[in-house]
Amino acid sequence: MPVTQSEHGRRGKLSVPERPEQTGAHGFDLGQALGDHVLSVWCIGVRSQVQQLHRGMITEMNEKNAARPVRVWDLPTRFFHWSLVVLLVVAWSTAQAGLEWMTYHLWAGYSILALLLFRLMWGFLGAPTAQFGSFIARPGVAWRYARELAAGRHAVYVGHNPLGGYMVFLLLLLVLIQVVTGLFSTDDILVSGPLADRVPRQYSRWATGVHKVNINILIAAVAVHVGAIGFYRWRFGDNLVLPMVTGKKLLSDEVAPHQGEASPWRAAGLLLISVVAVYLVVSCL
Ligand code: HEM
Repeated sequence: MPVTQSEHGRRGKLSVPERPEQTGAHGFDLGQALGDHVLSVWCIGVRSQVQQLHRGMITEMNEKNAARPVRVWDLPTRFFHWSLVVLLVVAWSTAQAGLEWMTYHLWAGYSILALLLFRLMWGFLGAPTAQFGSFIARPGVAWRYARELAAGRHAVYVGHNPLGGYMVFLLLLLVLIQVVTGLFSTDDILVSGPLADRVPRQYSRWATGVHKVNINILIAAVAVHVGAIGFYRWRFGDNLVLPMVTGKKLLSDEVAPHQGEASPWRAAGLLLISVVAVYLVVSCL
């Protein structure tokens, strides 16, 4: 158990002898005086050693608890996130802008699909915080976390917290539904997804309906996502956005003893595979 400042002060005080025979009340005694002198020198020595040891322990404890920048989001994950944000904005605004913008809408959709394929593979082959296994928590864990949060407490996580993990999963699922249904969607007149003609008409109508409804659910989920980030900032003073930009969070050794890194070459290879896969689906099917 760590020694606290007050405990140490008390011990130091008690180590000074308080015997009445040392006060001189019983007359001068050379042997006694020498003995007292040796004893007090010894006491001072021991006390200073204890103080040094104590200082050392506190420094060691502080070093262990000291926050230092730790890589929590790898570059591919950050690239994925901010590209996804930009592309979704492009896809949404081009769909609103009208027919002459639909080519850009389709291109934004293909790019999102490639990004998503990449992220799905990265969820198994990426850095620890990017892996699905590390942030899809058991329901009991998420429930306990939610209760703690409601009580105004929250534990620090290196990557996504248990509720954040579920939110990420939901966002990825909604984006996946959006782009896959987009491939099969049609307005029956001028604009069609590349696979709309490959399936019976009723399927492509159904996909179009889902595509139109799902975007509203996705926007609502994004609002919750951004709102939650604002909540952590307001309630706990946690800036979650900066780590998603720089990749680093200030954490102590105890919270983040070691973070593995994933190879950027692997990320580049997976991104290439994703782009080729989307190209094949769009142009060859
Ligand atoms: C189109 C809108 C958005 C979508 C679809 C989206 C989606 C996502 C996804 C999928 C993740 C998980 C990243 C991963 O592990 O791959 C994530 C994390 C994150 N996003 Fe967004 N995001 C959007 C907008 C934003 C915006 C506008 C902000 C900034 C205010 C933001 C801030 C963050 C942060 C800080 C994290 C990490 C959360 C954490 O610390 O656990 N996102 N987002």
